[in-house]
Amino acid sequence: MTRAWFATQIYSAPLARAGLERFNAGLAEECRSLRDFDKAGRAWSRRNYPGGYTSYASLNELHRFSSTFTRLEERIRRHVRLFARSLDMDLRGREIRMTDCWVNIMPPSAAHSLHLHPLAFVSGTYYVATPSGCPGLKFEDPRLDRFMAAPPKLPGARPLNRPHVTYPARAGNLVLFESWLRHEVAQNRVDAERISISFNYNWS
Ligand code: NI
Repeated sequence: MTRAWFATQIYSAPLARAGLERFNAGLAEECRSLRDFDKAGRAWSRRNYPGGYTSYASLNELHRFSSTFTRLEERIRRHVRLFARSLDMDLRGREIRMTDCWVNIMPPSAAHSLHLHPLAFVSGTYYVATPSGCPGLKFEDPRLDRFMAAPPKLPGARPLNRPHVTYPARAGNLVLFESWLRHEVAQNRVDAERISISFNYNWS
C-alpha cells in the first residue's frame, strides 16, 4: 500500500466574511499613491522587477506606518495562527509577528520570477486588485531538484503528484505558505494592473 507523507501545505481563504470590496478600494488607492511617492522603490523596481513596481526594497514595513496596513495585519494574523495550527507548529508560547509587508503592482507584461522568502517562517500574499485573466501564484514542488532520473508526470497526473500548482489570484483572498516554498507569478497578459500585498511572519 502506498500512502502520502511529508505534505506541503498551502492555506487559502477570504480575508474576512464581508466588507472587502470597500477595504480593497482603499488599499488599491494607497498602493498606487505609494508608487507615486516612492522614488527609490521605482528605481529599484526598474532594475529588479521589470515593468512593475514593488516596495520590497524601499517601503517594506508598511504595517508600521499606515493605519490601513496595520488593519490588514490584524486581519491576516488570525489566519497565520490557524495555518500554524494546521501545521502542528509548537510556537513555544511566543507571539507571531509580521516582519515585512510590501506592495506589488504588476501592469501588463510584468512578471515575478521564482523565489522564496528568507528569514521568515510563514509568508503570504493578499490580493487587492485582480483583473479577470491575470496570472495566479504558482508553487513548485520543493523536492523538484531531487528528482534526478525520475520520469516526467503524465498529463492527467493526480494533483498530489504534480510538480506545480497554481492558485488563482482573487481580490479579497489570502494565500499563506511556509517561507521556504518557491513560487512565481507568470507574466501579466491582461491590460490592467494586478495589485497584491506580500508579507513575512516570524515567531520570535
Ligand atoms: Ni513571494
